[in-house]
Amino acid sequence: MDYSDWLKNKGLEYIDNQLYFGGMNTIDIAKRYCTPIYIISEDIIRQRYKALKEALNKEYQNNSIHYAVKANSNLAFLKVLESEGASLDCVSTGEIHLCIKAGFSPERIIYTSNNITNDELRYALQKKVIINLDHTCQVQRLVNMADEVGYKPELLSFRINPEFGGGHHDHCITAGRHVKFGILEENIVDAYKTAIDNGFTRFGAHIHIGSGILEMEPFVNATEKYLSIVKKVRKELNIDFEFIDFGGGLGIPYRPSENPLDLSEYALTVLSRFKSAVQEMGLSDPKFIIEPGRYLSAEASVVLTEVNTIKKTRDKNFVGTNGGFQVLIRPTIYGSYHHIINCNTSRKDKKIHADIVGQICESGDIIGRDRDIIEPREGEFLAILDAGAYGFTMGSEYNSRPRPAEILISSGKTYVVREAGSFEDLERHQIIPDHLLK
Ligand SMILES: Cc1ncc(COP(=O)(O)O)c(C=O)c1O
Repeated sequence: MDYSDWLKNKGLEYIDNQLYFGGMNTIDIAKRYCTPIYIISEDIIRQRYKALKEALNKEYQNNSIHYAVKANSNLAFLKVLESEGASLDCVSTGEIHLCIKAGFSPERIIYTSNNITNDELRYALQKKVIINLDHTCQVQRLVNMADEVGYKPELLSFRINPEFGGGHHDHCITAGRHVKFGILEENIVDAYKTAIDNGFTRFGAHIHIGSGILEMEPFVNATEKYLSIVKKVRKELNIDFEFIDFGGGLGIPYRPSENPLDLSEYALTVLSRFKSAVQEMGLSDPKFIIEPGRYLSAEASVVLTEVNTIKKTRDKNFVGTNGGFQVLIRPTIYGSYHHIINCNTSRKDKKIHADIVGQICESGDIIGRDRDIIEPREGEFLAILDAGAYGFTMGSEYNSRPRPAEILISSGKTYVVREAGSFEDLERHQIIPDHLLK
């Protein structure tokens, strides 16, 4: 794929040396609203959802895409997916709260907890979402809580650890013998048996092996092991699984040298194995579920930052901007690559090799290491690509910098979907004890 097609696939193009995203001029947006700022393209969210849904439908009709809310939990973002018919994967009660606020009904929400507390069990029961547990010991607490709440679901799911993980960084590999998630094969029959003994009558199964996977091998290994475990449970307990959830993990091309994931290949790889296992087990049309977060959200958003200082030292050049790891922490904590481009390319012949850095008071505040870009002038804007997944949600007010605004682009219009934070936000919820006020 050539570079301009690679950009176009992310809704980006240059017209008269100015960068457009989702059909809108990024320089105009940066000037109209302050930077740093996240811009979200409604079109890209819809396009990614539709393409994935179509690929799954070709292989198996009874499927459901449960968007992983942790990637981007903006209410407008969730509303777009709600209107597409998506379902959701939530990992906290806060996420459940936001999803209900965005209009999702509880049967569209799977709550995949880990180390769940009693308060969280109570909340999940009260909201009647589908519960996915990650340890057998939680079944009894769930039953006790159901007595207290006065509602006991028939349906229960367990997160299985298939011992095959994958992902762009160790911290994002979520299956394997040494990770905290899920139930290992040797304990899984006991988990479902405990659920049956406690009166549950309908069942689901779940895995999530990791994040940012572009090649098929990790999916193949995990799928095969997972399905062998599901078959074992079916054989020993005669459970008729209502859904089998394969988690998220679908990667996106962060680097220009990377190509988008081949959705047909992904769907065929996982669903061919799923279908033959379903047939072998004689299950009655279980729902096939996946939980993509990054795939649906990463490319739907860019961050615009403003260059304020160009520092050229003996050993290194630095392009100093107002967007550091408070707006995008992935490069700092995972060493992740995010492509960074100029919003204005009119001076193409003047290049600089530099680290692109923010204002956070830490030397790890490097958003792009050793980059070649057109040397920007002070006051010009840069776009950090693929910031829609784990950008805002992992961002912070570190160094007491208020959070940036989020702008949704839709049909040639801009909508503020989150106002920029303020100094009042920095103070909010803080209470100074009386004796310190004297
Ligand atoms: C349980 C679960 N499902 C889905 C996802 C989404 O992963 P991704 O954004 O890589 O698709 C995650 C991410 O950590 C997860 O923990």
